[in-house]
Amino acid sequence: MLSTDLLRDAAERFGTPLYVYDADELDAGLERVRAAFGGARVFFAVKANPNLSLLKHMAGAGLGFDCVSYGELCRAEFLGLAGERIISNGPAKSQAEYDLGARLGVTFIVDRVEEVGLLPPRSRALVRVNPALQISTHDHLATGSAASKFGVTPEQVPLVLKALREAGHRALGLHVHIGSAIRDAQDFTAAYARLAELRSQTGPLEVFDAGGGWGIGADLHGIAREARHAAGVFDAELWVEPGRYLVAPAGVLLTTVVGVKRTGRNFCLVDAGMTELIRPMMYGAAHPLTPLWGGTQVETWDVAGPACESGDLLARDVPLPEPSRGDLLVIGEAGAYGAAMSTTYLTRARPAEVLRRSGEWQLIRRREEPQELWQTEL
Ligand SMILES: Cc1ncc(COP(=O)(O)O)c(C=O)c1O
Repeated sequence: MLSTDLLRDAAERFGTPLYVYDADELDAGLERVRAAFGGARVFFAVKANPNLSLLKHMAGAGLGFDCVSYGELCRAEFLGLAGERIISNGPAKSQAEYDLGARLGVTFIVDRVEEVGLLPPRSRALVRVNPALQISTHDHLATGSAASKFGVTPEQVPLVLKALREAGHRALGLHVHIGSAIRDAQDFTAAYARLAELRSQTGPLEVFDAGGGWGIGADLHGIAREARHAAGVFDAELWVEPGRYLVAPAGVLLTTVVGVKRTGRNFCLVDAGMTELIRPMMYGAAHPLTPLWGGTQVETWDVAGPACESGDLLARDVPLPEPSRGDLLVIGEAGAYGAAMSTTYLTRARPAEVLRRSGEWQLIRRREEPQELWQTEL
């Protein structure tokens, strides 16, 4: 994390709520991924943080992009990426995604049997497999469970590969992404092993895409070992699609204490809430908190945002010294699915984002004004 002085400086210059990223942390995350996964091809999952400056940073480091919407493909095109550096993923792609994907020459991830007939002619394609396992993460983040809408069943794989080839597409191989924020490496071991069992039916393949989903603190080397092993079973090149692991630790959300309220519970009211960071409300996510104030009297507090929603809590039951209006609170591990999932609900303009790089602040997204939010309304 950036120093307290730098964070105070950012708050003073740019105001709060504010997303603050550290380029050195981004690079450190990339190094960790490269050290663990060796020569694997890395596609950054754009959904985790689509800010153009961060994407430029990733593209400059040689990463490709994993895109899950037309808009994300547009970002990739805007930045000049094309061909093998882009993956088009998603369970219900629009015609616009197929058309732009064809123009850019992307690799499509086929998510259901019928999609074979929707692909542009002579597409490069991977088949997404749902191993239907128990995944140790929040239900909304488990994409590799039997109840999830993603992928085809392992039994359907030979059929889909055959259909792709018969339709004149290039069936490169298999794809698996079992979910997000997964800390237990065993989940990945089980998923990759389930796919490796298909080798006798598929024969050798060109690509094994092991997806992303690695939680902060997960055993990356263990996951990488298993992914490399599975790719080896197919004699395939290994691809990976990390999002969170690369950007979450590189970003914090800075928020200012607006006041306190004591009702039997202690509420620390801050100027950021569910509209800036929805993960605590949506997934029960616990982000590390660092108060930039001191004090000896530590009590248990709920950190609440300004939205008129009783669920607008950023944290519950956290020990904090007595907060006062104007104090700064740092919400950690917010670089992934933070700004990306921020909304304009309640006509709340989205916060600014800044990047600390080479000893300088770079404003990478200016704060929105409420007046901008009704520009498209008639
Ligand atoms: C297909 C796909 N690949 C990769 C990712 C990245 O996941 P994470 O940010 O957990 O690494 C996601 C996000 O869930 C995804 O849907």
